[in-house]
Amino acid sequence: MDAITLLKDDHKTVEKLFKKFEEAGDGAKKTKQKLVEQITAELTKHTYIEETIFYPAARKVVPATEDHVLESVEEHHIVVWLLSELAKLDPSDETYDAKVTVLIENVRHHVEEEEQDWFPEVRKGMGRKTLQELGEQMTTAKADAPTDPLKIPSAKA
Ligand SMILES: [Fe+2]
Ligand SMILES: [Fe+2]
Repeated sequence: MDAITLLKDDHKTVEKLFKKFEEAGDGAKKTKQKLVEQITAELTKHTYIEETIFYPAARKVVPATEDHVLESVEEHHIVVWLLSELAKLDPSDETYDAKVTVLIENVRHHVEEEEQDWFPEVRKGMGRKTLQELGEQMTTAKADAPTDPLKIPSAKA
């Protein structure tokens, strides 16, 4: 699979989980906690393959988008910390839903920038063959990727 298609599929998976969270009722604490666990696993694996494989490759091949890459890593930084806080937080805590809402807003903004502004430029600069090869590499790496958000490189940035 092409690297950008793979990343967009991940974005769709996460967006579905966000919708489920937003549709869950106020009392659905257990459901919400389960959803946050799924969101955390999906986002962590996704962020990991972006930071370790896709972002460095894009930065090298399309240097004009370097600023975008640097900004994206800072956005990841905020997201992985929110995820790590949520893992320790009781879903009945009054800050729980507020934190998830901020997480969702951050990720939606980030995904929109990746998909609208950046991916098209990378696709043009990289070409089909490289994207295909990267996609294969990322599929393999994803299988072994961490699910603990603090294992993501940008957690330390
Ligand atoms: Fe990203
Ligand atoms: Fe992404």
